[in-house]
Amino acid sequence: MTLEQRSLPDPLLGSDGRKVTTEEQWRSVRRPDILRLFRDYVYGREPVGRPEHIGFHVEKEDGFMEGAAIRKRVEIRFEGPGGAGAFRLLLFLPAKAAKPVPVFLLINNRGRAVADAERASSSPFWPAELIVSRGYAAALFHTEELDPDRDDGFADGVHGLFDPVEKPRSPHAWGTIAAWAWGACRAMDYLETDPDIDPRRVAVVGHSRGGKTALWAGAIDPRFAMVVSNNSGCTGAALSRGKRGETIRDINARFPHWFCETYKSFDGRENELPVDQHMLLSLIAPRALYVSSATEDLWADPESEFLSLIAAEPVYRLFGSEGLGTASLPPADTPVFGSGVGYHIRTGKHDMGLSDWRHFIDFADRAMRAQ
Ligand code: GCU
Repeated sequence: MTLEQRSLPDPLLGSDGRKVTTEEQWRSVRRPDILRLFRDYVYGREPVGRPEHIGFHVEKEDGFMEGAAIRKRVEIRFEGPGGAGAFRLLLFLPAKAAKPVPVFLLINNRGRAVADAERASSSPFWPAELIVSRGYAAALFHTEELDPDRDDGFADGVHGLFDPVEKPRSPHAWGTIAAWAWGACRAMDYLETDPDIDPRRVAVVGHSRGGKTALWAGAIDPRFAMVVSNNSGCTGAALSRGKRGETIRDINARFPHWFCETYKSFDGRENELPVDQHMLLSLIAPRALYVSSATEDLWADPESEFLSLIAAEPVYRLFGSEGLGTASLPPADTPVFGSGVGYHIRTGKHDMGLSDWRHFIDFADRAMRAQ
């Protein structure tokens, strides 16, 4: 389905019916409006930003990768009304690069195997060796440590620590994707304190449910200079209107804990949502945004991911940034880079691997230059 046939809401048309024509109108009026809509209708409202009680503890720091990297393990601890919690950040820094360095922060939804701190087997899903060899730090945290990925009535994870005790829960309260995104922001709180890291050059990366999370983290936290969404599909990068594969009804049925309760009232009614996912992408502007798809990932729907990026471009243009320079899906395995946005579609299945990472890093080299 073409963009025109999808009848998308216009990100540059204000709720008062007036067209946004300046950066200032976008920043002070339209962007906050769109962010509010996504909080209220889709991802839910997080009850707290940076908690009053948060601490960072570097547990261990040692040489690694035959001297090419410094490995740090950091515990991020916090307290809320429901008690104390913590999660770990694993960080490999390029030992020889001039500091501070830029960093790729992966929201890891694939469990311990890909994140083996010993690098007993290097993983294409998180190729820390490649990232470090290109002069970037590679950081990662596990989504499960913020909130286990199950529908338990929001008792465990950070929901249990920060949600007000009143019941029933608000239909706008945060879901699990928002809890993981909140974790990415707390990882950013630590990165800002690490003298080896350049906090103005942090790229947040996620695959699939992690990609939905990376986009939401980039939307709520402007400290992320770059966002990478890999195969994020439904309620990630992909447009909901006219989408093939997974729909809002499908995702809410299988993962009732991912989004806020209100989102369920849009099952089968995507045309009535006041937002569509190109507006989520537009919240990243003018910061760097990279979207990647895979040819066989029809559940995510590559065309709806690509067209969403195209539909977000007018907001990038408002900031004087060029778009991709093409409105049709590029050939497989051929990245297209604009100044603020980049895209590729990889041959193959729903996954993230070395070739994806090479393109992310090439784009970051251009889009996140040291100032
Ligand atoms: C399921 C889900 C997708 C999600 C994916 C993943 O397939 O339907 O929305 O992106 O899991 O996280 O791998």
